[in-house]
Amino acid sequence: MPVNRIGVLTGGGDAPGLNAVIRAVVKSACNSGIEVVGLEDSFDGLIEPGRSRVLTPRDVRGIMRLGGTILGTVNHGNPFAYPVQTSEGTRDYSDRCIEMFHKMGLDALVVIGGDGTLAIAHRFFQRGIPLVGVPKTIDNDIVGTTNCFGFDTAVAFATDAIDRLHTTAEAHRRIIVVEVMGRYAGWIALYAGVAGGADAILIPEIPFELAKVAERLRERDRWGAHFSIVVVAEGAVPKGGKIALIEEAKDGRVERLGGIGAKVAEVLGRMTGKETRSVVLGHLQRGGAPTSFDRVLATRFGGKAVELVRQGIFGQMVAFAPPDIIGRPLDEIVGKTRTVPLDSDVLRTAKALGMTFGD
Ligand code: F6P
Repeated sequence: MPVNRIGVLTGGGDAPGLNAVIRAVVKSACNSGIEVVGLEDSFDGLIEPGRSRVLTPRDVRGIMRLGGTILGTVNHGNPFAYPVQTSEGTRDYSDRCIEMFHKMGLDALVVIGGDGTLAIAHRFFQRGIPLVGVPKTIDNDIVGTTNCFGFDTAVAFATDAIDRLHTTAEAHRRIIVVEVMGRYAGWIALYAGVAGGADAILIPEIPFELAKVAERLRERDRWGAHFSIVVVAEGAVPKGGKIALIEEAKDGRVERLGGIGAKVAEVLGRMTGKETRSVVLGHLQRGGAPTSFDRVLATRFGGKAVELVRQGIFGQMVAFAPPDIIGRPLDEIVGKTRTVPLDSDVLRTAKALGMTFGD
């Protein structure tokens, strides 16, 4: 079946590079005679009428360097269990989306999102909607792709923050704990920790013992390094302890993590007797201009997504399998998390250099 008109949407938390994907999809589709419709606020654009607009190359001019997404996004709008303000709690709007998809004259969708959004896309594909997924998350935890765009930008920002914190930590002979994002995978903490020369890195994959971290920091003091940097992923968990939550999952929203950095700082302060501070980098890691690496990756992802659409290959996610961009079946990907392998050479190297993971 020829593809003449496609929809594009962005879902889940934003990540630097979303606009670069949109731009690549619009330009490459239009250049091959396919019209592109931008759907607003993730699948809301298929639930509510009037939440879409045709995108031409003119509409995407100059957006590659912009963070955020020109289409808007939500991370609590699952059409299969849409949160409503009535006693039902949630409602299934999937039929309405499918109807709207056909009513709008769309032949296919490009869905740009993280694990949650891609799982929704997969369900729509199983219900007969031709679509291609594009993986997005700064956490870099989507299986099947070595990199998601946004990760490199987040790591660059966190590394810069660690560099700045190093100088003030050294000046005051303090321990500074830096909490970074990473719900169930410690990629940002690991890469920013290594790039920033941290002394301890705490990640969800390795339950930590603060007594071991404190010992490492005391050792530094003994040989004359009177300051230390500890990088902790928001999802890191003490051995036998619990994940630090700000808010439980409810009404179609996922749990919100945060607070582990302050706890770690407080305990390390007590154990070492040193002055300690904590900093949460939070959403600063998701904002700003994408790095050149993320711009190129996002552009390649967008181009590949349109290529798959033109070839009539659906139910796939584009993926980075260096040096290539390939398509992988969505059903191999959904419901899984790509965590840091315990035999990762980055981890081994960090340990060999004397960084502790609290294990
Ligand atoms: O999944 C990406 C992520 O940045 C997580 O690391 C973080 O826990 C979450 O999004 C925060 O999402 P929100 O924007 O809902 O606070």
